[in-house]
Amino acid sequence: MKSGFKKILGVVMIICVFWYMIDYIDVKLEGINSKESNVDVNDKDKLVQGKNIDVSTELVLVNRKYGLNKDYRPEALNIPNIPFADGTDNEEKHVAGVIVKPLETLVNTAKEEGIILLGNSAYRSYKSQKNTYSNRVKSEGRELADAYVAKPGFSEHQTGLCMDITNEDRYFMKGTKEADWLGENAYRFGFIIRYPEGKKSITDIEYEPWHIRYVGGKAAKYIYDNGITLEEYLGK
Ligand code: DAL
Ligand code: ZN
Repeated sequence: MKSGFKKILGVVMIICVFWYMIDYIDVKLEGINSKESNVDVNDKDKLVQGKNIDVSTELVLVNRKYGLNKDYRPEALNIPNIPFADGTDNEEKHVAGVIVKPLETLVNTAKEEGIILLGNSAYRSYKSQKNTYSNRVKSEGRELADAYVAKPGFSEHQTGLCMDITNEDRYFMKGTKEADWLGENAYRFGFIIRYPEGKKSITDIEYEPWHIRYVGGKAAKYIYDNGITLEEYLGK
C-alpha cells in the first residue's frame, strides 16, 4: 500500500516536471521568436487584449500596436456556406459566428450581380499566423513580409472577423471586376476594406483589396462614405 502510494506520487511528480518543462520551452521559444520579429508584447505602448473579448458589443482593433492574447479564440467558429479557392486550409475556412450570415449574404449577392467571389483565408490561430509570417519572411524577406503579414498575436485573422477573398483567376487586384465590386459594395454587408490604398502610414499594412473585416453596418457605411480606416474611425 505504502509503496503503491509512492509509485503514484512518483508518476505525478514526473508528469508535473514534464508539464513545467513544456511550458518553459514554449516560453523560451516565444521569447526567441518575439526578439526575431521585433515584437515585445510587454512594450508599454502595446496592448495585448484579453481572452474574453465580446465581439458582439466591442469593435475590436487589432494592428501592430494592439495585439491579442495568444490563447484568444473567437466564439462559435464556423465554416460559412460559400465557395472556397481550391486548397484552402480547413482552419482558414472558419469565421467567428457573428460574421457567418453577413459573409454568406455578401457572397450570394455578389453572385446575383454577376461577381464570383471565393473565400481564401479567414481564421488563423496564433500558431498558424506564426507559420504564415515566418514562411513569408523566408520566401520574401522581412521587409516585404512586414508590409503584408502581421506578426503572430497582432493579426486580425486571429479574431475570425475578417476574410481574404479571391477570384477564380486567383488574381485579386484593383481593376479586376471582383476587387472593384468588393471595394464598392462590402460596406452594404457590414464589411470594410481593412487596408485601403494610400493608408499605410495609418494601418502599417500595404493596400490589400482582398482583406475584408466585419465592423457592422453603421461603422462600415461611415468608414466607406468618409474614406477612412478603422484606426481613424476609432480615433486610435
Ligand atoms: N495580411 C494581414 C495584415 C495579416 O496578416 O493579418
Ligand atoms: Zn488578410
